[in-house]
Amino acid sequence: MVRLSPLFTPPASHTDIATLRSDASKRLLVVDDEDAIRNALTRYLRTRGFEVENAASGAAALSILGEERFTLMLCDVRMPGMTGLDVLRRALSDDPDLAVVMLTAVNDAITATEALARGAYDYLVKPVELPHLQGTLERALHKRTLVLEQRRVEQVIRDEVASRTKELEHEQDALKSLTVSVAETLINAMEAKSIYLRGHSQRVAELGASIADSMSLDADTVEAVRLAGHLHDVGKIGIREEVLNKPGKLTAEEYAHVQDHVRIGMEILAPLKHLGIVLDYIHDHHEHVDGTGYPRQLSGQAISIGGRILCAADTFDALTSRRAYREPLSPQATVEYLAQNAGTLLDPAVYEVLRGVVRHRKSLVFIDDANRFSSG
Ligand SMILES: [Fe+2]
Repeated sequence: MVRLSPLFTPPASHTDIATLRSDASKRLLVVDDEDAIRNALTRYLRTRGFEVENAASGAAALSILGEERFTLMLCDVRMPGMTGLDVLRRALSDDPDLAVVMLTAVNDAITATEALARGAYDYLVKPVELPHLQGTLERALHKRTLVLEQRRVEQVIRDEVASRTKELEHEQDALKSLTVSVAETLINAMEAKSIYLRGHSQRVAELGASIADSMSLDADTVEAVRLAGHLHDVGKIGIREEVLNKPGKLTAEEYAHVQDHVRIGMEILAPLKHLGIVLDYIHDHHEHVDGTGYPRQLSGQAISIGGRILCAADTFDALTSRRAYREPLSPQATVEYLAQNAGTLLDPAVYEVLRGVVRHRKSLVFIDDANRFSSG
């Protein structure tokens, strides 16, 4: 049989009570199906400075909580219909700031532990010693203050981190576009050294991005391939003009000098660490899947996907471009010619996609091609 402790007389010290009375936010909901206990707790706690409402069932409690805001709930565990644990769960899901103290009819350690695990601050065992009740509620309120302060601090930190992250992203975006502008200036300077290079970087970038997109690579990878296409030959700024413009066959020394553009390009771009994977793509754009490329003789999947795509786009553009010693090949003739290089020079999967892109004229490069071919 549940009974209340007879200690209904206020304690001698009123310091804490005065504090409680001065705080209008000490709104307490008492939930208990037993009228005698509910009414006694309500009366007593009103004398202790709490603004008390009460409810005779879990459903009634949730209804009141849905309409008014409380700081504390004192809730019986064993009630007909909805149990105190269910009330606790639903009340906290609606208001995580609510401090809940459970009332158990017996010293039920399992129920008490479960209540604490579900977010109750504390529990009291009936019969309740009133001074103990008041101390428990004061501790719950104090804990709630600490929890709210901790949540506030965490929110401030989260907001600060989010704001700094955003600023950093803006700075990185600005840095990237500045890098691209500077790199484009370099590319223009490099392409000005040879009529055969003019527009090459732009076309490789667009064709590379079309291939990457057609391979269903994610948007970031497609853009990385595009940027790498723009920058892939930046190292040619360090190659002698007479070699770049030489009409005939290159000597072994000249060929080695041209190959050095990859190393020079990597040295130019190395400080721009935020380019990330773009640097790998550029590094790999002359690697062949059979391991006969340069500068590292990588093979197969060891070559980055961007490197394999750029190799295909670069080769395609070179063959469809005019040279001093030969006429440009048509796009269709070029893909037919390149078929014999799939698996040696080119990644076969990338080659298949290149062929599809050419067939469907998916890249802007062909608009430019039309101009190049018609200009003779
Ligand atoms: Fe190159």
